[in-house]
Amino acid sequence: PARPGRDERLRGRHVLVTAGPTHEPIDPVRYIANRSSGKQGFAVAGALARRGARVTLVAGPVALATPPGVDRIDVETAREMAAAVEHALPADAAVLVAAVADWRAEPADQKIKKRGEGPPPLALSENPDILAGLARSDHRPGLLVGFAAETEQVEVHAREKLARKGCDWIVANDVSGDVMGGDANRVLFVTQDGVEDWPRLGKDEVADRLAERITAALLWV
Ligand code: CTP
Ligand code: CA
Repeated sequence: PARPGRDERLRGRHVLVTAGPTHEPIDPVRYIANRSSGKQGFAVAGALARRGARVTLVAGPVALATPPGVDRIDVETAREMAAAVEHALPADAAVLVAAVADWRAEPADQKIKKRGEGPPPLALSENPDILAGLARSDHRPGLLVGFAAETEQVEVHAREKLARKGCDWIVANDVSGDVMGGDANRVLFVTQDGVEDWPRLGKDEVADRLAERITAALLWV
C-alpha cells in the first residue's frame, strides 16, 4: 500500500545492482582482490530502494550493512557474481558498480607451501565480463549502467568502455586518489549525448543523483 509522503516513483520496477570487489581464490587461505569497499554500490542500491524500486543487490565480500528494503545476495568470485546476476533477471535497469576481478587463478586444493624453490607461478585466466554479457543478453535490461575505475585518461577510457561494452551510461571515476574505501567520489557521467563533470560529492550524493537520472529514464519509457 502506498504511504503518503513516500517516494514510490519506481514502484513495480526491478533494478539490479552489483557492488564490492570479488575475491578469486589462489588456495584455501589466499585470494586475489582489489580495494573496492562496496560503499558506492550499496549507496546506489539504497537510493533506488528509497524511490520505491525492488532492488536486488549482488554483493562481493564487503563489511557493510544492507540498505533498508534491499534484497541482498552475497557472492565471492566473479563467476558467482555472473551467475547471481543472470539468476536475478529480468530487470528494468541494472547498475554494475562492482569492481569485478579481471582474472582468476586455478586454486590449489591445499595451501601452497614455501619450498625454497621460488614463488609459485600463478596461471591466470580472464573472468567473464558481466556487463558486456548483460548487454548482449536476450534479457538485456532496458537501461544498463556501468561504472569505470580509471587511474588516468578517465574520459577517454570511459567513452571507449561505453562503446565497447554496449551499455547506455558509464559513471567513470578516477581511483588514483582516496576514492576506493573513502566516502567521497568525483565522477564523469558519460552517455551517447556527452559528458557531465559532476563535482566532488559524498558517495550517497553521487548515488542520489544517479538514482534521479535512472528514475527519470525509467518513467520516460
Ligand atoms: N565489469 C563486469 N565484469 C567484469 C569486469 C568489469 O561486469 N569481468 C563491469 C564493472 O562492474 C563496471 C564496468 O564493467 O561496471 C567497467 O569495469 P572496468 O574494470 O572499469 O572495465 P574493464 O573492461 O575490466 O577494463 P579495465 O581493463 O580498465 O579494468
Ligand atoms: Ca576491470
